Amino acid sequence: MKITSAGLLALASVLPFATAQSPEWGQCGGIGWTGATSCVSGTTCSVINPYYSQCLPGSASVPPTTTPPNTTPVGTTTAPTSTGSTAPAPGNPFTGFEYFISPLYASEVAAAAKLITDSSTAAAAATVEKIPTFIWLDSVSKIAPFGTYLSTASAQQKSSGQKLIVPIVIYDLPDRDCAALASNGEFSIADNGETNYKSLYIDAIVAQIKQFPDVKIVAVIEPDSLANLVTNLSVSKCANAQTTYLACVTYAMQQLSAVGVTMYLDAGHAGWLGWPANLSPAAQLFTSLYASAGKPSGVRGLATNVANYNALSAASPDPITQGNPNYDEIHYINALAPLLGSNFPAHFIVDQGRSGQQNIRQQWGDWCNVLNAGFGTQPTLNTGSSFIDAIVWVKPGGECDGTSNSSSPRFDAHCALSDAAPNAPEAGTWFQSYFQTLVTRANPPL
Ligand SMILES: *[C@@H]1O[C@H](CO)[C@@H](O)[C@H](O)[C@H]1NC(C)=O
Ligand SMILES: *[C@@H]1O[C@H](CO)[C@@H](O)[C@H](O)[C@H]1NC(C)=O
Repeated sequence: MKITSAGLLALASVLPFATAQSPEWGQCGGIGWTGATSCVSGTTCSVINPYYSQCLPGSASVPPTTTPPNTTPVGTTTAPTSTGSTAPAPGNPFTGFEYFISPLYASEVAAAAKLITDSSTAAAAATVEKIPTFIWLDSVSKIAPFGTYLSTASAQQKSSGQKLIVPIVIYDLPDRDCAALASNGEFSIADNGETNYKSLYIDAIVAQIKQFPDVKIVAVIEPDSLANLVTNLSVSKCANAQTTYLACVTYAMQQLSAVGVTMYLDAGHAGWLGWPANLSPAAQLFTSLYASAGKPSGVRGLATNVANYNALSAASPDPITQGNPNYDEIHYINALAPLLGSNFPAHFIVDQGRSGQQNIRQQWGDWCNVLNAGFGTQPTLNTGSSFIDAIVWVKPGGECDGTSNSSSPRFDAHCALSDAAPNAPEAGTWFQSYFQTLVTRANPPL
């Protein structure tokens, strides 16, 4: 699959930063900032906080610095106790790369676009083929095709000279999705799940990655798992899974770090860990897990809103947010980051793949094929926040969240709610009518 305009767009979004001076009131520095560090004339780069320096009108008596003086860098990624053998370069790992486009998703989208009779909708749908989404390694069977993708990516970047990132999701914990039913995994804790996860899944992924050390990989680690440990230990399947999840995620962090993978641990979303009562327990879990794993150098930060529908920055709070001050992802991230302190790298990626339309849910916890959702902001490094490395599409929009068939063994009641799309097939399979709605309701339009 050829990398075309989507990758070029990603690159184009980086280039202006490299050369330009920041405008008056623009950002000019701070931890994680990769843009311009000088300001237009008549303004001075001034340290507002460790994460944010801004071009303020006037000239300063003190020369501007990009690393704020007298502050402890919070959330730096280089830990002296790092166990990683392949230390990643500091700074935004996406800068300078284009994405490898998932051949599977591109082929699903191409086939789907052909089924659309309205020609302008079909044309809009076809553009999705070139928008990068993450590749979900949600079973052992996906690892061999992943190896083929790495080989393709390696060949592509050798011929084009453009370095590529292969974005993946690590998602195969034993007793997966412990608080829901639709995404039950293939491994069971009762049946040797932890050993199977380590040897048949993580080790097999690592073996593929080792063959292509020239290909950069960014991974989201185990959606929902740690958030379930923060809020859902009253569900017995989650309580039973706690020590196994922690051991497996630790193993994944260590082994993937050792082969140079950049990782974002899944951190739920604003309507989950963003509630004030959940923020500190969440920060506590992330920091303690990271420390006990030996601060693997590949761990870059956290991923939020994976496969969910929240806006990064909502125009106004959706009524379903019921007074949560962290009613969108930017409020959640701004609230969580300081609690991580210097004990966990406070960098984020945020899924906006299906967040184009807001105020479409009846409850904030509704997650399954939400009706009237639209594709959201396309992947970009122009995030508006020095905490956020990239806006991404982790969920490949059009792949079903779960079946609405109540007779299916994997039926979850969320998938039959009145705000869930009817006639939904099994999780992971293609859901044509849902895809078409994502296309027609995309915001910004495709
Ligand atoms: C899991 O926790 C969330 C957040 O507190 C809650 O909304 C949800 O109902 C819980 N799930 C189960 C199955 O208890
Ligand atoms: C619903 O699931 C049951 C059990 O798997 C199956 O027999 C039935 O055909 C399914 N119904 C539809 C409409 O797909």
